Amino acid sequence: MKIRTSLALIGFLGILGAIGSGVYFFGGYYSVAATAEEPAIVKWLLVGVRQASVARHATDMPPMPLDAPAEVQAGARAFSVRGCVNCHGGPGVNWAKFSEGLRPDPPDLKEIANDRAPQYLFWVIKNGINMTGMPSFGAIEVPDREIWTIVAFIKKLPSVSEADFKTWSAPPVVTTVPSPR
Ligand code: HEC
Repeated sequence: MKIRTSLALIGFLGILGAIGSGVYFFGGYYSVAATAEEPAIVKWLLVGVRQASVARHATDMPPMPLDAPAEVQAGARAFSVRGCVNCHGGPGVNWAKFSEGLRPDPPDLKEIANDRAPQYLFWVIKNGINMTGMPSFGAIEVPDREIWTIVAFIKKLPSVSEADFKTWSAPPVVTTVPSPR
């Protein structure tokens, strides 16, 4: 086959492919339902694009040592109060039922904690992940400092016991000063 003929054939197939996928996606044949696992190629694209994107954007470094117990404990409380437990669960705390209907489904964070850099976790919590259920907490003005405490807590998560989480996430004890009569 002459080179020109093969180029023309490649071009023709490309156009056919474009029309085909146009009809498939805009004709409504692709299902966006969250009732089934997303197709392997969609999953691969979502994960691959997300990791490359976060790796390029996540440059902020922790402003404090992340293993300080006070930071970890403040993070446990923030994790609970900000609602992360509803989707991700926590030690001894089940995620809310609705979270089982999310696709992609929210990961159990203790399973990914060791494989993610602190700056990655910070970026994801601050900015969220588009086209998934992961919200941006920067968008609702959660201070960076508080997000870093949550990062400290997530890094510690694999070794946090149910009892610790219960104590750390409980509302702070308020000592009331007796009012003068
Ligand atoms: C409404 C549900 C929802 C809430 C609330 C939520 N998340 Fe998520 N989160 C998700 C989903 C869904 C994903 C998975 C995205 C994916 O796999 O592509 C995710 C992903 C993540 C990831 C990235 C995991 C990875 O594999 O890299 C981190 C870290 C995370 N969430 C932390 C948090 C923290 C911390 C909070 C609270 C401040 C929170 N999330 C609140 C739904 C939620």
